[in-house]
Amino acid sequence: MTGRPIIEIENLSHTYMKGTPMEHVALKGANLYAEEGECIAIIGHTGSGKSTLIQHFNGLMRPESGKVIIDGEDLSKKKVDLKTLRQKVGLVFQNPEDQIFEKLIGDDIAYGPFKLGLPIKEVRERVKWAMDVVGLDFEEIKDRQTFALSGGQKRKVALAGILALKPKILVLDEPTAGLDPKSRKELLDKIKRLNKDEKLTVVFVSHNMEEVAMLADRVYVMAGGTDVLTGTPKEIFTDKEKLQHHQIGTPETVQVLYKLTDLGYQVNTEAFSVLEAAEEIMKVLAGKKEGSEHVQRI
Ligand SMILES: Nc1ncnc2c1ncn2[C@@H]1O[C@H](COP(=O)(O)OP(=O)(O)OP(=O)(O)O)[C@@H](O)[C@H]1O
Ligand SMILES: [Mg+2]
Repeated sequence: MTGRPIIEIENLSHTYMKGTPMEHVALKGANLYAEEGECIAIIGHTGSGKSTLIQHFNGLMRPESGKVIIDGEDLSKKKVDLKTLRQKVGLVFQNPEDQIFEKLIGDDIAYGPFKLGLPIKEVRERVKWAMDVVGLDFEEIKDRQTFALSGGQKRKVALAGILALKPKILVLDEPTAGLDPKSRKELLDKIKRLNKDEKLTVVFVSHNMEEVAMLADRVYVMAGGTDVLTGTPKEIFTDKEKLQHHQIGTPETVQVLYKLTDLGYQVNTEAFSVLEAAEEIMKVLAGKKEGSEHVQRI
């Protein structure tokens, strides 16, 4: 992280279908701050405003009230260069179907780079690279039809199309929904590497607490159209009171560790990565071997 602010959202509100009987307040004074190179997760119940919030990052939605400043540029001003902004902020929609337009997969991923006016050689290289990042074989897949893709494959193609633009900020709305466990893990590893090695700023929305714990430097919890809590995954997932108060789900590792404490074992509930949690469980098992007290408790 560079310490340089790259996303500054302050007191942002948005009402859908304002002035109609269908009027709905989706954002109510939401805030979010990210530094260059940070990886931010946004979690929260269905309908809490996560997708509405992130659609403000690339100018798809303009601030109704409140501030949206991206890489120093205030998006509430009238004249915003949307083309440059959308190259800088790559947003992958929750529904990949909204993002795929071309007949052939390779053409679809190449669409953005072509629009940037890049030479064909570079477009080809970018498409190849982006397909590799999402785990699609260039030669095998590029000439296949987009309509015949599965849900998970569509998600990968949509992400590749955005990566091929080489954005500075990558915004992902539930990036691993519909992916099988292997693809999910591979994709998360690649995103993590892009974030760490290439200092790509990443903001992702997720309902999967394991991936939040694995990827995020910081987490925002949304409820009722606003941010109700922020902190590191450790701060969020290890504060039992806040977890209960905001009805936040936790990684399964945390649930196991809390269960062990309820049963009277002394484990460190802040050890929520799989490796750390395994070590805590091993300590309990070692204790069990030594004394009989714990054996009887189980
Ligand atoms: N185009 C729209 N028109 C009217 N209301 C909308 C529209 N899009 C979203 N909403 C409403 O705004 C609220 C916030 O929606 P949003 O999609 O931002 O939630 P979310 O947190 O992303 O939910 P999920 O986890 O289900 O994706 C919801 O109550 C939703 O019904
Ligand atoms: Mg959503």
